Amino acid sequence: MKNLALPFFAASAIQNVGFAAPAEPQESLHERLENGLGRTPALGYNNWNNGGCTHATADAALKVADLMISLGLKDAGYQYLNIDDCWASKSRDSSGNLVADPAKWPQGIKPVTDKIHGMGLKFGLYGDAGTMTCAGYPGSQGHEAQDAKKLASWGVDYWKHDACYLPCATGGTPQTCWDGRSSTKAYYATMRDALAGAGRPILFSMCQWGRDSVWTWGKDYGNSWRMSGDIANSWSSLANIAANAADIAQYAAPGGFNDLDMLQVGNGGLNDNEERAHVGLWFIAKSPILIGTDLSKLKQSTLSLLKNKALIAINQDSLGKAATYFRPAGKPAPVKGTLYPYWAGPLKDGVVVGLVAVDGAATLSINFADVPGLGSGSWKWTEVFTDATGTGTSVSAALGAHDMRVYKITKA
Ligand code: GLA
Repeated sequence: MKNLALPFFAASAIQNVGFAAPAEPQESLHERLENGLGRTPALGYNNWNNGGCTHATADAALKVADLMISLGLKDAGYQYLNIDDCWASKSRDSSGNLVADPAKWPQGIKPVTDKIHGMGLKFGLYGDAGTMTCAGYPGSQGHEAQDAKKLASWGVDYWKHDACYLPCATGGTPQTCWDGRSSTKAYYATMRDALAGAGRPILFSMCQWGRDSVWTWGKDYGNSWRMSGDIANSWSSLANIAANAADIAQYAAPGGFNDLDMLQVGNGGLNDNEERAHVGLWFIAKSPILIGTDLSKLKQSTLSLLKNKALIAINQDSLGKAATYFRPAGKPAPVKGTLYPYWAGPLKDGVVVGLVAVDGAATLSINFADVPGLGSGSWKWTEVFTDATGTGTSVSAALGAHDMRVYKITKA
């Protein structure tokens, strides 16, 4: 969906135009989401960034399942296998049920989820809060309870709820609405409650591209919330998303996380340094990690990044706090919306520090005394990409352009 790749702050700016906001929805079932799911960010796969509509089929899903196992991704912790837009028939059945496209799912969804569950994986599907999905398949508006029950009967474990074709204050129900007067909250509350009543635990992944400053209320509605327009296969896109995620790190916590969007590693738009930074930033920002590339063509270097045990442990840390910018003494202050080299965040047993060569090749050095959560004295560090270790009061990395190092720091 090309026209969703709007700069994130374009959406925020539109929201601040000064119109009176619509009345907030009456909460029906919950005051906050405590569905027991998503206590750490979801780890898995989504087919969208690898060819969009073309792989929303049973065959493709089962191939991905095999590869998740044979490549060791399941053993590394990736459990969700998610199919995005275009899996459904264009029309509901005569009883109003969603129907899987019989050409793409000849036996329907259930036998596929059964197989995937039998392989020790979980299965996710995609839908929409409006009248249609972004690619024009049936949306759930007005059918939420019925759809949630259907998903539960199919054995679905994860539901991504998009925001196309919702009513827009500028008129009608356009494919995408960025008008700040048109709140998405009520639609997400309805689906949250429908899923809660469906009789099966289903992780609720909200996808409304950061509208309505969703990070400020998302934890009461879903297990994660997209905080930006769609990621593109480029450094500038991921740098922009990461910079905006740094601003909202405080909203991540067990049960609800900022979703920086599906990964683009493996898709050819990033060099090795940039792939390292993409993965490093997403993992320390505690984003859900959804691999978005053709697993049958994965380079060994990309696979190693995705299976990096130390980095996965940081993303899955039980504290669930996201890293954000910190400013070392003597360095220029961060600029809102611009990627900054210095990142840190708390872990249950230490601190994670990220160093990113945002502008070009550079040697980045920090004193641990400047890092929030650390202080003067000697600290032990391990770098997750190189396995380098050390003890001292500072650390320094000579980096190529756009490369990144991630340090786990503990008491010496
Ligand atoms: C929107 C979402 C994407 C993807 C497509 C599918 O653009 O933000 O992640 O799901 O719709 O049409």
